[in-house]
Amino acid sequence: MAKFKKIGILSSGGDAPGMNAAIRAAARKAMEEGMEVVGINEGYNGLIHGNLTELDTHEVSNIITHGGTILYSSRCPEFKTEEGMAKAIQTCKENHIDAIVALGGDGTFRGATDLTNHGIPSIGIPCTIDNDITATEYTIGFDTAMNTVLQMVDSLRETCESHARCNVVEVMGRDCGMIALYAGISAGAMAIAIPEVEFDDEYALSKLIKARENGKRGLVCVFSEGMSYKYGERFSERFVEKIRANSDIDTRFARLGHVVRGGSPTLRDRLTATQMGANAVSCLLEGKSNVVMCVRHGRIVSVDINNALMLDRMYKGKLEDGDLRRFSPDAIADMKSICAYRQAKMERLYRMSYEICD
Ligand code: ADP
Ligand code: F6P
Repeated sequence: MAKFKKIGILSSGGDAPGMNAAIRAAARKAMEEGMEVVGINEGYNGLIHGNLTELDTHEVSNIITHGGTILYSSRCPEFKTEEGMAKAIQTCKENHIDAIVALGGDGTFRGATDLTNHGIPSIGIPCTIDNDITATEYTIGFDTAMNTVLQMVDSLRETCESHARCNVVEVMGRDCGMIALYAGISAGAMAIAIPEVEFDDEYALSKLIKARENGKRGLVCVFSEGMSYKYGERFSERFVEKIRANSDIDTRFARLGHVVRGGSPTLRDRLTATQMGANAVSCLLEGKSNVVMCVRHGRIVSVDINNALMLDRMYKGKLEDGDLRRFSPDAIADMKSICAYRQAKMERLYRMSYEICD
Protein backbone atom coordinates (compact mmCIF):
# COMPACT_ATOMS: atom_id res chain seq x y z
CA MET A 1 0.00 0.00 0.00
CA ALA A 2 1.42 3.38 -1.03
CA LYS A 3 1.90 5.76 1.87
CA PHE A 4 1.39 9.46 1.47
CA LYS A 5 1.83 11.96 4.29
CA LYS A 6 -0.02 14.83 2.71
CA ILE A 7 -2.38 15.13 -0.25
CA GLY A 8 -3.68 18.25 -1.99
CA ILE A 9 -7.21 18.69 -3.33
CA LEU A 10 -8.13 21.24 -6.00
CA SER A 11 -11.11 22.17 -8.16
CA SER A 12 -10.49 23.57 -11.63
CA GLY A 13 -12.35 24.64 -14.79
CA GLY A 14 -16.09 25.28 -14.62
CA ASP A 15 -17.53 24.63 -11.17
CA ALA A 16 -20.29 22.05 -10.66
CA PRO A 17 -22.74 21.34 -7.84
CA GLY A 18 -21.36 18.39 -5.88
CA MET A 19 -17.73 19.51 -5.94
CA ASN A 20 -17.95 20.28 -2.22
CA ALA A 21 -19.29 16.81 -1.47
CA ALA A 22 -16.30 15.32 -3.35
CA ILE A 23 -13.84 17.59 -1.49
CA ARG A 24 -15.40 16.59 1.83
CA ALA A 25 -15.28 12.87 1.07
CA ALA A 26 -11.72 12.90 -0.27
CA ALA A 27 -10.52 14.99 2.69
CA ARG A 28 -12.27 12.85 5.31
CA LYS A 29 -11.13 9.57 3.75
CA ALA A 30 -7.53 10.81 3.61
CA MET A 31 -7.68 11.98 7.23
CA GLU A 32 -9.15 8.63 8.23
CA GLU A 33 -6.12 7.00 6.59
CA GLY A 34 -3.81 9.19 8.65
CA MET A 35 -2.88 11.73 5.99
CA GLU A 36 -2.77 15.49 6.21
CA VAL A 37 -4.91 17.33 3.68
CA VAL A 38 -4.33 20.68 2.07
CA GLY A 39 -6.86 22.55 -0.07
CA ILE A 40 -5.37 24.27 -3.11
CA ASN A 41 -7.36 27.43 -3.82
CA GLU A 42 -8.41 28.43 -7.34
CA GLY A 43 -7.25 25.26 -9.07
CA TYR A 44 -3.88 25.17 -10.81
CA ASN A 45 -3.51 28.90 -10.24
CA GLY A 46 -3.31 28.25 -6.49
CA LEU A 47 -0.78 25.51 -7.05
CA ILE A 48 1.46 27.86 -9.01
CA HIS A 49 1.19 30.67 -6.46
CA GLY A 50 1.14 28.59 -3.28
CA ASN A 51 -2.40 29.65 -2.37
CA LEU A 52 -3.14 26.84 0.08
CA THR A 53 -5.46 26.14 3.03
CA GLU A 54 -4.83 23.38 5.54
CA LEU A 55 -8.03 21.34 5.78
CA ASP A 56 -9.19 19.61 8.92
CA THR A 57 -12.42 17.77 9.49
CA HIS A 58 -14.22 20.97 10.58
CA GLU A 59 -13.21 22.88 7.45
CA VAL A 60 -15.20 20.41 5.38
CA SER A 61 -18.20 20.32 7.73
CA ASN A 62 -21.52 21.60 6.47
CA ILE A 63 -20.37 21.91 2.87
CA ILE A 64 -22.16 18.88 1.43
CA THR A 65 -25.32 20.93 0.88
CA HIS A 66 -23.61 23.80 -0.94
CA GLY A 67 -23.13 24.35 -4.68
CA GLY A 68 -19.96 25.97 -6.01
CA THR A 69 -16.65 24.98 -4.48
CA ILE A 70 -15.14 26.06 -1.17
CA LEU A 71 -11.72 25.79 -2.83
CA TYR A 72 -12.78 28.15 -5.64
CA SER A 73 -11.94 27.50 -9.27
CA SER A 74 -10.13 29.12 -12.17
CA ARG A 75 -8.97 28.61 -15.68
CA CYS A 76 -5.19 28.91 -15.62
CA PRO A 77 -3.37 29.04 -18.98
CA GLU A 78 -0.02 29.49 -17.17
CA PHE A 79 -0.23 25.92 -15.92
CA LYS A 80 0.17 24.67 -19.49
CA THR A 81 3.63 26.28 -19.72
CA GLU A 82 6.91 24.74 -18.53
CA GLU A 83 7.47 27.70 -16.17
CA GLY A 84 4.00 27.32 -14.67
CA MET A 85 4.52 23.59 -14.16
CA ALA A 86 7.92 24.20 -12.55
CA LYS A 87 6.34 26.62 -10.06
CA ALA A 88 3.54 24.14 -9.30
CA ILE A 89 6.02 21.35 -8.61
CA GLN A 90 8.03 23.73 -6.41
CA THR A 91 4.86 24.46 -4.37
CA CYS A 92 4.30 20.72 -3.93
CA LYS A 93 7.89 20.21 -2.77
CA GLU A 94 7.93 23.16 -0.39
CA ASN A 95 4.64 22.11 1.18
CA HIS A 96 5.35 18.37 1.16
CA ILE A 97 2.33 17.60 -1.03
CA ASP A 98 2.83 13.99 -2.16
CA ALA A 99 -0.25 13.52 -4.34
CA ILE A 100 -3.18 15.47 -5.76
CA VAL A 101 -6.90 14.86 -6.26
CA ALA A 102 -8.09 17.16 -9.07
CA LEU A 103 -11.78 17.91 -9.61
CA GLY A 104 -12.84 19.16 -13.04
CA GLY A 105 -13.21 18.24 -16.70
CA ASP A 106 -10.92 17.05 -19.46
CA GLY A 107 -8.65 20.13 -19.28
CA THR A 108 -8.15 19.51 -15.57
CA PHE A 109 -7.28 15.87 -16.29
CA ARG A 110 -4.63 16.92 -18.83
CA GLY A 111 -3.12 19.00 -16.04
CA ALA A 112 -3.29 15.98 -13.69
CA THR A 113 -1.39 13.90 -16.25
CA ASP A 114 1.31 16.56 -16.47
CA LEU A 115 1.61 16.57 -12.67
CA THR A 116 1.89 12.78 -12.56
CA ASN A 117 4.57 12.91 -15.26
CA HIS A 118 6.47 15.43 -13.12
CA GLY A 119 6.44 13.12 -10.09
CA ILE A 120 3.24 14.11 -8.27
CA PRO A 121 0.76 11.21 -8.55
CA SER A 122 -2.62 12.68 -9.42
CA ILE A 123 -6.17 11.42 -9.72
CA GLY A 124 -9.11 13.08 -11.48
CA ILE A 125 -12.74 13.33 -10.41
CA PRO A 126 -15.15 14.26 -13.24
CA CYS A 127 -17.09 17.36 -12.27
CA THR A 128 -19.03 19.22 -14.93
CA ILE A 129 -22.69 19.96 -15.44
CA ASP A 130 -22.28 19.03 -19.13
CA ASN A 131 -21.87 15.23 -18.66
CA ASP A 132 -19.55 15.40 -21.66
CA ILE A 133 -16.71 13.15 -20.51
CA THR A 134 -17.05 10.08 -22.70
CA ALA A 135 -15.14 7.76 -20.35
CA THR A 136 -17.80 8.09 -17.67
CA GLU A 137 -21.54 7.61 -17.88
CA TYR A 138 -21.97 10.34 -15.29
CA THR A 139 -20.25 13.55 -14.21
CA ILE A 140 -20.86 15.29 -10.90
CA GLY A 141 -23.20 18.26 -11.30
CA PHE A 142 -25.24 16.92 -14.22
CA ASP A 143 -28.27 15.87 -12.19
CA THR A 144 -28.48 19.16 -10.29
CA ALA A 145 -28.16 21.18 -13.51
CA MET A 146 -30.85 19.13 -15.25
CA ASN A 147 -33.21 19.53 -12.33
CA THR A 148 -32.62 23.28 -12.24
CA VAL A 149 -33.40 23.49 -15.96
CA LEU A 150 -36.50 21.37 -15.42
CA GLN A 151 -37.76 23.62 -12.65
CA MET A 152 -37.25 26.72 -14.77
CA VAL A 153 -38.83 25.28 -17.89
CA ASP A 154 -41.81 24.12 -15.82
CA SER A 155 -42.21 27.71 -14.64
CA LEU A 156 -41.99 29.08 -18.17
CA ARG A 157 -44.57 26.54 -19.28
CA GLU A 158 -47.07 27.93 -16.81
CA THR A 159 -46.77 31.48 -18.05
CA CYS A 160 -46.78 30.24 -21.67
CA GLU A 161 -50.07 28.48 -20.95
CA SER A 162 -51.61 31.61 -19.42
CA HIS A 163 -50.63 33.82 -22.35
CA ALA A 164 -50.82 31.27 -25.20
CA ARG A 165 -47.16 31.78 -25.94
CA CYS A 166 -44.18 29.82 -27.12
CA ASN A 167 -40.86 29.98 -25.26
CA VAL A 168 -37.58 28.81 -26.74
CA VAL A 169 -35.19 28.10 -23.87
CA GLU A 170 -31.45 27.77 -24.45
CA VAL A 171 -29.42 25.78 -21.95
CA MET A 172 -25.72 25.24 -21.33
CA GLY A 173 -23.75 22.09 -22.07
CA ARG A 174 -21.05 23.39 -24.39
CA ASP A 175 -21.05 21.07 -27.44
CA CYS A 176 -22.88 18.31 -25.57
CA GLY A 177 -26.67 18.24 -25.81
CA MET A 178 -27.32 15.99 -22.85
CA ILE A 179 -28.71 18.63 -20.47
CA ALA A 180 -31.05 19.91 -23.20
CA LEU A 181 -32.16 16.42 -24.21
CA TYR A 182 -32.81 14.96 -20.75
CA ALA A 183 -34.36 18.11 -19.29
CA GLY A 184 -36.28 18.83 -22.50
CA ILE A 185 -37.86 15.36 -22.53
CA SER A 186 -38.71 15.59 -18.85
CA ALA A 187 -40.25 19.04 -19.30
CA GLY A 188 -42.41 17.77 -22.16
CA ALA A 189 -40.80 20.12 -24.68
CA MET A 190 -42.43 20.35 -28.09
CA ALA A 191 -39.06 20.61 -29.83
CA ILE A 192 -35.52 19.86 -28.70
CA ALA A 193 -32.33 20.79 -30.56
CA ILE A 194 -28.98 19.19 -29.75
CA PRO A 195 -25.74 19.12 -31.74
CA GLU A 196 -25.48 15.31 -31.74
CA VAL A 197 -28.61 14.79 -33.86
CA GLU A 198 -29.64 16.62 -37.03
CA PHE A 199 -32.29 19.24 -36.33
CA ASP A 200 -35.11 19.67 -38.83
CA ASP A 201 -36.26 23.25 -38.23
CA GLU A 202 -39.10 23.04 -40.78
CA TYR A 203 -40.50 19.97 -39.05
CA ALA A 204 -40.16 21.55 -35.61
CA LEU A 205 -41.94 24.68 -36.86
CA SER A 206 -44.74 22.63 -38.44
CA LYS A 207 -45.23 20.77 -35.15
CA LEU A 208 -45.60 24.02 -33.25
CA ILE A 209 -48.10 25.37 -35.78
CA LYS A 210 -50.09 22.13 -35.81
CA ALA A 211 -50.17 22.00 -32.02
CA ARG A 212 -51.46 25.57 -31.88
CA GLU A 213 -54.12 24.77 -34.51
CA ASN A 214 -55.16 21.85 -32.33
CA GLY A 215 -55.71 24.24 -29.43
CA LYS A 216 -52.47 23.89 -27.49
CA ARG A 217 -51.73 27.23 -25.78
CA GLY A 218 -48.37 26.82 -24.06
CA LEU A 219 -45.49 25.68 -26.27
CA VAL A 220 -41.96 25.12 -25.00
CA CYS A 221 -38.79 24.28 -26.94
CA VAL A 222 -35.43 23.41 -25.29
CA PHE A 223 -32.28 24.11 -27.30
CA SER A 224 -28.68 23.30 -26.48
CA GLU A 225 -26.17 26.15 -26.67
CA GLY A 226 -24.05 23.70 -28.69
CA MET A 227 -26.29 24.37 -31.72
CA SER A 228 -24.66 27.77 -32.05
CA TYR A 229 -21.18 26.23 -31.90
CA LYS A 230 -22.13 23.84 -34.67
CA TYR A 231 -24.38 25.93 -36.91
CA GLY A 232 -23.37 29.52 -36.23
CA GLU A 233 -24.18 32.21 -33.72
CA ARG A 234 -27.61 32.87 -32.27
CA PHE A 235 -29.04 29.56 -33.46
CA SER A 236 -31.84 29.60 -30.87
CA GLU A 237 -32.71 33.25 -31.49
CA ARG A 238 -32.79 32.56 -35.23
CA PHE A 239 -35.35 29.81 -34.64
CA VAL A 240 -37.45 32.26 -32.60
CA GLU A 241 -37.30 34.66 -35.56
CA LYS A 242 -38.37 31.84 -37.87
CA ILE A 243 -41.43 31.07 -35.74
CA ARG A 244 -42.38 34.76 -35.68
CA ALA A 245 -41.92 35.11 -39.43
CA ASN A 246 -43.93 32.01 -40.31
CA SER A 247 -46.74 31.99 -37.77
CA ASP A 248 -48.68 34.26 -35.46
CA ILE A 249 -47.46 32.40 -32.38
CA ASP A 250 -46.34 34.94 -29.78
CA THR A 251 -42.80 33.70 -29.06
CA ARG A 252 -40.21 34.60 -26.42
CA PHE A 253 -36.60 33.58 -25.90
CA ALA A 254 -34.81 32.71 -22.64
CA ARG A 255 -31.14 31.82 -22.12
CA LEU A 256 -30.73 30.20 -18.70
CA GLY A 257 -26.94 30.57 -18.67
CA HIS A 258 -24.79 30.12 -15.57
CA VAL A 259 -27.72 29.99 -13.18
CA VAL A 260 -27.90 26.22 -13.80
CA ARG A 261 -24.30 25.81 -12.59
CA GLY A 262 -25.18 26.77 -9.03
CA GLY A 263 -27.57 25.50 -6.39
CA SER A 264 -27.65 22.84 -3.74
CA PRO A 265 -26.58 19.49 -5.23
CA THR A 266 -29.20 16.76 -5.63
CA LEU A 267 -28.97 13.42 -3.85
CA ARG A 268 -27.47 11.80 -6.94
CA ASP A 269 -24.70 14.38 -7.16
CA ARG A 270 -23.91 14.22 -3.44
CA LEU A 271 -23.86 10.44 -3.46
CA THR A 272 -21.72 10.09 -6.61
CA ALA A 273 -19.35 12.81 -5.40
CA THR A 274 -18.99 11.17 -2.01
CA GLN A 275 -18.25 7.77 -3.55
CA MET A 276 -15.81 9.20 -6.08
CA GLY A 277 -14.03 11.36 -3.50
CA ALA A 278 -13.47 8.44 -1.14
CA ASN A 279 -12.56 6.05 -3.98
CA ALA A 280 -10.02 8.51 -5.39
CA VAL A 281 -8.09 8.38 -2.11
CA SER A 282 -8.37 4.58 -2.00
CA CYS A 283 -6.91 4.45 -5.53
CA LEU A 284 -3.94 6.56 -4.46
CA LEU A 285 -3.35 4.23 -1.52
CA GLU A 286 -3.47 1.25 -3.88
CA GLY A 287 -0.64 2.88 -5.80
CA LYS A 288 -2.77 4.02 -8.76
CA SER A 289 -2.21 7.40 -10.33
CA ASN A 290 -3.05 9.20 -13.54
CA VAL A 291 -6.53 7.72 -13.42
CA VAL A 292 -9.94 9.32 -13.43
CA MET A 293 -12.91 8.02 -11.45
CA CYS A 294 -15.64 6.91 -13.85
CA VAL A 295 -19.10 5.39 -13.76
CA ARG A 296 -19.25 2.32 -16.01
CA HIS A 297 -22.37 0.15 -16.08
CA GLY A 298 -23.44 1.93 -12.90
CA ARG A 299 -20.24 1.06 -10.98
CA ILE A 300 -17.45 3.42 -10.00
CA VAL A 301 -14.14 2.35 -11.50
CA SER A 302 -10.80 4.00 -12.27
CA VAL A 303 -9.81 4.59 -15.90
CA ASP A 304 -6.37 5.62 -17.12
CA ILE A 305 -6.50 9.35 -17.95
CA ASN A 306 -4.74 8.88 -21.29
CA ASN A 307 -7.37 6.32 -22.30
CA ALA A 308 -10.15 8.59 -21.09
CA LEU A 309 -8.83 11.57 -23.07
CA MET A 310 -8.35 9.48 -26.22
CA LEU A 311 -11.87 8.08 -25.92
CA ASP A 312 -13.16 11.62 -25.68
CA ARG A 313 -11.27 12.58 -28.82
CA MET A 314 -12.69 9.59 -30.63
CA TYR A 315 -16.26 10.45 -29.61
CA LYS A 316 -15.84 14.09 -30.57
CA GLY A 317 -14.25 13.21 -33.94
CA LYS A 318 -10.95 14.86 -32.96
CA LEU A 319 -8.55 11.92 -33.39
CA GLU A 320 -5.28 12.73 -35.13
CA ASP A 321 -3.05 10.45 -37.20
CA GLY A 322 -1.23 7.96 -35.00
CA ASP A 323 -3.32 8.69 -31.88
CA LEU A 324 -4.44 5.08 -31.58
CA ARG A 325 -1.05 3.52 -32.36
CA ARG A 326 -0.25 2.60 -28.78
CA PHE A 327 -3.67 1.04 -28.08
CA SER A 328 -4.33 -2.68 -28.57
CA PRO A 329 -7.01 -3.79 -31.07
CA ASP A 330 -9.16 -4.89 -28.10
CA ALA A 331 -8.82 -1.50 -26.41
CA ILE A 332 -9.73 0.30 -29.66
CA ALA A 333 -12.75 -1.97 -30.19
CA ASP A 334 -13.84 -1.24 -26.63
CA MET A 335 -13.52 2.52 -27.19
CA LYS A 336 -15.51 2.32 -30.43
CA SER A 337 -18.29 0.41 -28.74
CA ILE A 338 -18.51 2.99 -25.90
CA CYS A 339 -18.76 5.80 -28.49
CA ALA A 340 -21.36 3.95 -30.54
CA TYR A 341 -23.44 3.17 -27.45
CA ARG A 342 -23.37 6.81 -26.30
CA GLN A 343 -24.36 8.16 -29.71
CA ALA A 344 -27.09 5.53 -30.19
CA LYS A 345 -28.56 6.34 -26.78
CA MET A 346 -28.77 10.05 -27.64
CA GLU A 347 -30.37 9.30 -31.02
CA ARG A 348 -32.87 6.87 -29.54
CA LEU A 349 -33.97 9.32 -26.86
CA TYR A 350 -34.13 12.16 -29.36
CA ARG A 351 -36.38 10.20 -31.74
CA MET A 352 -38.59 9.17 -28.86
CA SER A 353 -38.96 12.78 -27.74
CA TYR A 354 -40.45 13.66 -31.13
CA GLU A 355 -42.71 10.64 -31.21
CA ILE A 356 -44.40 11.37 -27.91
CA CYS A 357 -45.22 15.06 -28.32
CA ASP A 358 -47.67 15.98 -31.01
P1 ADP B 1 -12.25 21.66 -17.64
O1 ADP B 1 -11.33 20.98 -16.66
O2 ADP B 1 -13.60 21.91 -17.08
O3 ADP B 1 -12.23 20.98 -18.99
P2 ADP B 1 -10.53 23.71 -18.74
O4 ADP B 1 -10.45 23.10 -20.10
O5 ADP B 1 -10.68 25.18 -18.65
O6 ADP B 1 -11.72 23.14 -17.87
O7 ADP B 1 -9.21 23.25 -17.96
C1 ADP B 1 -9.02 23.64 -16.61
C2 ADP B 1 -7.57 23.95 -16.40
O8 ADP B 1 -6.79 22.77 -16.61
C3 ADP B 1 -6.97 24.97 -17.36
O9 ADP B 1 -7.26 26.29 -16.96
C4 ADP B 1 -5.49 24.66 -17.23
O10 ADP B 1 -4.97 25.20 -16.05
C5 ADP B 1 -5.50 23.13 -17.10
N1 ADP B 1 -5.26 22.53 -18.42
C6 ADP B 1 -6.11 22.50 -19.48
N2 ADP B 1 -5.55 21.92 -20.55
C7 ADP B 1 -4.30 21.56 -20.17
C8 ADP B 1 -3.20 20.92 -20.84
N3 ADP B 1 -3.28 20.54 -22.12
N4 ADP B 1 -2.07 20.72 -20.13
C9 ADP B 1 -2.00 21.10 -18.83
N5 ADP B 1 -2.99 21.71 -18.16
C10 ADP B 1 -4.13 21.94 -18.81
O1 F6P C 1 -18.47 23.32 -18.91
C1 F6P C 1 -19.44 23.93 -18.09
C2 F6P C 1 -19.98 25.16 -18.76
O2 F6P C 1 -20.93 25.75 -17.90
C3 F6P C 1 -20.60 24.94 -20.14
O3 F6P C 1 -21.89 24.39 -20.08
C4 F6P C 1 -20.54 26.33 -20.71
O4 F6P C 1 -20.51 26.34 -22.12
C5 F6P C 1 -19.24 26.85 -20.15
O5 F6P C 1 -18.94 26.09 -18.99
C6 F6P C 1 -19.27 28.30 -19.78
O6 F6P C 1 -17.99 28.68 -19.39
P1 F6P C 1 -17.66 30.01 -18.57
O7 F6P C 1 -18.01 29.73 -17.15
O8 F6P C 1 -16.22 30.19 -18.77
O9 F6P C 1 -18.52 31.08 -19.15
